[in-house]
Amino acid sequence: MDTDPDRLQLSTEEMRRLGYAVVDALVAHEEGLADGPVGRRAPREALELLLREPVPEAPGDPLAMIERIGRDVLPNTLHVNHPRFFAFVPSPGNFVSAMADALAAGFNVFAGTWFAGSAAAQVELVVVDWLRQICGLPENAGGLMVSGGSMANLTALAAARHARLDDRSEGAIVYLSDQTHSSVARSLAVLGFAPEQVRMLASDADFRLPLDSLAAAIAADREAGFRPFCVVANAGTTNTGAVDPLAGLATFCRAQGLWLHVDGAYGAPAILTEQGKAALAGLGEADSLSLDPHKWLFQTFESGCVLLRDRGLLLETFQVMPEYLRDTERGLEEVNFGNHGIQLTRSFRALKLWLSLQVFGLAAFRNAIARGIALAELAERALRRSGGWIIVTPAQLAVVTFRCALPGLGETDADALHARIVEATMAEGFALVTSTMLDGRPVLRLCTINPRTTDEDIEETVRRLTETARRLARSSNDPAHPE
Ligand SMILES: Cc1ncc(COP(=O)(O)O)c(C=O)c1O
Repeated sequence: MDTDPDRLQLSTEEMRRLGYAVVDALVAHEEGLADGPVGRRAPREALELLLREPVPEAPGDPLAMIERIGRDVLPNTLHVNHPRFFAFVPSPGNFVSAMADALAAGFNVFAGTWFAGSAAAQVELVVVDWLRQICGLPENAGGLMVSGGSMANLTALAAARHARLDDRSEGAIVYLSDQTHSSVARSLAVLGFAPEQVRMLASDADFRLPLDSLAAAIAADREAGFRPFCVVANAGTTNTGAVDPLAGLATFCRAQGLWLHVDGAYGAPAILTEQGKAALAGLGEADSLSLDPHKWLFQTFESGCVLLRDRGLLLETFQVMPEYLRDTERGLEEVNFGNHGIQLTRSFRALKLWLSLQVFGLAAFRNAIARGIALAELAERALRRSGGWIIVTPAQLAVVTFRCALPGLGETDADALHARIVEATMAEGFALVTSTMLDGRPVLRLCTINPRTTDEDIEETVRRLTETARRLARSSNDPAHPE
């Protein structure tokens, strides 16, 4: 093939050179990751200087551009797959997943209709069914791949609204705990629920949704003439990894005629392990379930999945058939995933999880998840040993939260210290830890789902955190020696 910029075409040689340069950059990134910083958050001013420019009119050299991306763009991001990235919810990913993404993008497979992407739809049917089996939902359950947990929650709640409310939300009430991920409230807002239709119940001492206050709130709402309709439960909260009492909630919701949506975007994959299976008992009882393979199933962004107990509901909720798609409508055998959710044009997202499972096997995933759970337990032990911290929530589903408790440090100073520790840790770049609020107080939080994290990474991170806390506490006690 010859170069023809006016057809946006590279020559065969140029394509190879560009492709190999990209693969080399990815392999170098993977191999050097643990030895480098967790990434960088650059100031806006610096990035404006580096990247603001007029639209380039003339062609440029692709290899020079790859070099520029490697110099100016990628280092100025946080590496969510770094083995010492413990912030928020990491995305450890895996190289196979990235390569599958490259294939799906290169072939630009259209995964919205069977007509255009029959084998892509079949792979998606298979992958979604694997996830259904893993989560213990019945055979009639099914779903589709979406961009992530937020979209999974939105899709599930739209289906719930359709099934139970005939798409009319007046007077309907949704129940959730104060530990529920913000994407649920956002989904409900998008679906037209007013804030007063969402009952955010206080979680219990273990940050779980209490059944008794849920029952009381529902009874009061029925009494007041409202229409209780859906409970959203957590299978692993983002804050602490807590799991709501899923089995009890499922029994209760069934008896009350309520829809049970379970947000397992963070924690559901833990069901592959013995420990997780016990913690997540009842997961398979959900009417709908959100999963996020780009978290704890080690996929690159964007990989989410929504499962419905009655898979037919997705088509019922989302199907529209404009005249320009009439050729794609060829009976239920030919599954058109573009009609099972919100997106018509969809990339071939299922391929990466399919390929990763084919290459590594499910046993490796199980071991990788078990390792994440064990790493948080190791972190908890190291924090307890260090003497500078109190454990606020013990390690559960690979999350541990803790507060600074240095001798002589007042509560108010301790509160302020957590944000400074995060900043200092980020500036140092060895590991990334972020904070959250529990019971109105700041805590630090480690989320240890990367299977490539070593025990030494955990021990050294805790050692450095403790040292940083001591140093910052000294400087706040001594105004003559500020940081
Ligand atoms: C429990 C939970 N639900 C939903 C989400 C939203 O998922 P996403 O960011 O993939 O849209 C997250 C993200 O961290 C989460 O932890």
